[in-house]
Amino acid sequence: MKAKPTWAGRLPGGLASEAWNFLHSLPHDRFLWPYDIDGTSAHVKGLAAAGVLTKTEAAKLARELKAIRDKPELVDEGDEDVHSAIERVLTERLGDLGAKVHAGRSRNDQVATALRLWAREQISLVRAAVAGLVGALADRAEETATVLVPGYTHMQRAQPVTLGHWLCAHAWAFVRDLDRVDAAYENADSSPLGAGALATSTLGIDPKVAATELGFSRVFDNSIDAVSDRDFLLDAAYGCSTALTHLSRLAEEIVLWSTTEFGFVRLPDDYATGSSMMPQKKNPDVAELARGTTGIAVGALTGLLVTMKSLPLAYDRDLQTDKQHLREVLAVTAGAFAAMSGLMRGITFVTERMEDAAGDAGLLATDAAEDLVRKGVPFREAHSRIATSVREGKTVDLNAKSSVAQRSASGGPSPASVRAQVRKLRRKAAP
Ligand code: ARG
Repeated sequence: MKAKPTWAGRLPGGLASEAWNFLHSLPHDRFLWPYDIDGTSAHVKGLAAAGVLTKTEAAKLARELKAIRDKPELVDEGDEDVHSAIERVLTERLGDLGAKVHAGRSRNDQVATALRLWAREQISLVRAAVAGLVGALADRAEETATVLVPGYTHMQRAQPVTLGHWLCAHAWAFVRDLDRVDAAYENADSSPLGAGALATSTLGIDPKVAATELGFSRVFDNSIDAVSDRDFLLDAAYGCSTALTHLSRLAEEIVLWSTTEFGFVRLPDDYATGSSMMPQKKNPDVAELARGTTGIAVGALTGLLVTMKSLPLAYDRDLQTDKQHLREVLAVTAGAFAAMSGLMRGITFVTERMEDAAGDAGLLATDAAEDLVRKGVPFREAHSRIATSVREGKTVDLNAKSSVAQRSASGGPSPASVRAQVRKLRRKAAP
């Protein structure tokens, strides 16, 4: 049976079934149940502080809300959305007292509050997962600070570097992602509760009461903006998109390095899959799925941007789609990072093959040119002389280990620089 909409007083006939099927959002917002209960509990505190509810009434409501917090199954398929569902359940259980709870609020500030509470929690999980990968890369970099590997440009062998330096390079990109994720958190951390439909209320509710209760660091500056703003979701989607884009680059290299052709890494057995048909296969599905997950985040970012574009102030029903765009993104981002951290911790680096490849004398041609520069030869001339001997198939008599050791300036590939990077990365990834 369809519950009466909260607005049935105005439109008692109810919705056409096609309209109902299209508008009702329970399938997309029931996950907000505990957050909306918390938002409602905080609103009850605000109503009590304003004298709209007595202390006894507020205590009764608080008790009931606590009792149903872990019971999202109380929603009914006939509820228009999770907000209406909670009000219906309270009213069924407490009669008139339940019917008092919506004073001074609208589903507009209500949904924005629940979403921000949910987003803060999810963003923290993403942060922890990204930091976890930075930690894993730092640990592996420390262990491989002296291992030589060819560095590539254009996917062609370029110059020798250390494996630790390569691992740190990926880690630094993830450190910048932490900043973006933190910015998304910071933007989510403002309470919209008390904004009402768009213009607050006449009931004298102090928005700070609910904000403090919910652990928000501040309250809205403008009630119209408070119900229209979804920037925190855009920021979260952007943070996840960039982080996953970076993750896809690491994943791509792992896929490549695990091929027989490269043979630079061996995947941990518990992070690889077999083939249902070909008995010999060991596939890098974890890295591939991490690489592919980027599409989910970029899709959500693009989708939400399109929804927001040209949207008039204040609340419009278009905003309901925010949940469909964002819901999956934060969870899959955290999941992809957790899986890639485990993979990077367990992966075997085939250092003999890497060092063998790094020993390719061609990789030291730039060093040879720089030797001539030290002797006063103009660089262009030195470049041309070494290029000629490369064309003639002559080998350069230098060694990769000392080449890398000489690149000891901060930020370079030398083992000492890698160790310094590792220390800095660990500080950045601290919670
Ligand atoms: N289900 C709606 C959403 O998620 C809740 C807000 C509805 N507000 C309204 N004025 N119709 O956006």
